[in-house]
Amino acid sequence: MSDKVKVTIDGITVEVEPGTSILNAARQIGGDIVPPAMCYYSKLEGSGGKCRTCLVKVSKGSEKDPRPMPKLVASCRTGVMDGMEVQNITSPEVIEARKGVVEMLLINHPLDCPVCDQAGECHLQDLSYEHGVADTRYEFDRRTFERIDIGDKIQLHMTRCILCYRCVYVADQITDNRVHGILGRGDASEISTYIEKAIDNDFSGNVIDVCPVGALTDKTFRFKNRVWFTKPVDAHRDCPKCKGKVTLWYKGEEVLRVTGRKDQFGEVEDFICNTCRFDTKNTSDWVIEGPRHISHTSVISSNHYEMTPLPVIKDNPILIEANKIEFDRATKV
Ligand code: SF4
Ligand code: FES
Repeated sequence: MSDKVKVTIDGITVEVEPGTSILNAARQIGGDIVPPAMCYYSKLEGSGGKCRTCLVKVSKGSEKDPRPMPKLVASCRTGVMDGMEVQNITSPEVIEARKGVVEMLLINHPLDCPVCDQAGECHLQDLSYEHGVADTRYEFDRRTFERIDIGDKIQLHMTRCILCYRCVYVADQITDNRVHGILGRGDASEISTYIEKAIDNDFSGNVIDVCPVGALTDKTFRFKNRVWFTKPVDAHRDCPKCKGKVTLWYKGEEVLRVTGRKDQFGEVEDFICNTCRFDTKNTSDWVIEGPRHISHTSVISSNHYEMTPLPVIKDNPILIEANKIEFDRATKV
């Protein structure tokens, strides 16, 4: 007899280990039924439960107690029970609630995507696109902050922060001396570095990768390019501090930035050190593995060389010649 428990999400049943959260059970199924997550991060202990974007409806509690849960629940913080039935995209109530959550998050988040470095890989931008409404009902002044430099390589723009706590957990769990946290409560909460003290340690750059919005950005990449004009390539190097497995983001032959490798849920596979991220930006520093696979639904895929050649290219010798490298690569796959 298996120790696993059965949970059905949007009509698809999966068997998972006891203690698995609904969100992680959904991730095991994959695809559109996976709830969005702005604060949960599987590699950061204690994360989740802050943003409410992952709300789902539990229409059947369990085999033993089939009563539905009275309210929508945060899927990242709710464990599955045997026989549980969950609705995500099949529930109009969930979709409506998610709209409300996006509206709340946007109360204090400017829609400055055209000038934000995170545009194109921002989870809030995706959510707003899917659930946002054109108007806001909010009439009061929004919170605004001056930009703060956290050391010489990271910039904090609190105005964009959604208080997900991920960067605080990174500082707590990945780096050895946390000097920042969240101060204040309610609408007075803010990320603070205690008198703008630099986070000065080898893994501080990971706060950039975990930030779901553009509140923490890489100063060495700021305003250099739009992410969809760059070409992501996987590479590794022998690094004494981390695994040295990264993605290099090229523009022409220049490496514009280095990041951890992100999976389909937007989480890094491995945290990387600051030497890999900031100080090794020559191709010669790296062993190149090949193009990073990017989901075709991502804006980063536009102009991407992994794309299957469009029918128009297949039939057009001039275009085939002009796109020879891309065409050869795609037809080999
Ligand atoms: S700065 Fe970014 S990672 Fe940190 S709490 Fe704000 S949104 Fe989250
Ligand atoms: S991801 Fe579940 S509350 Fe934020």
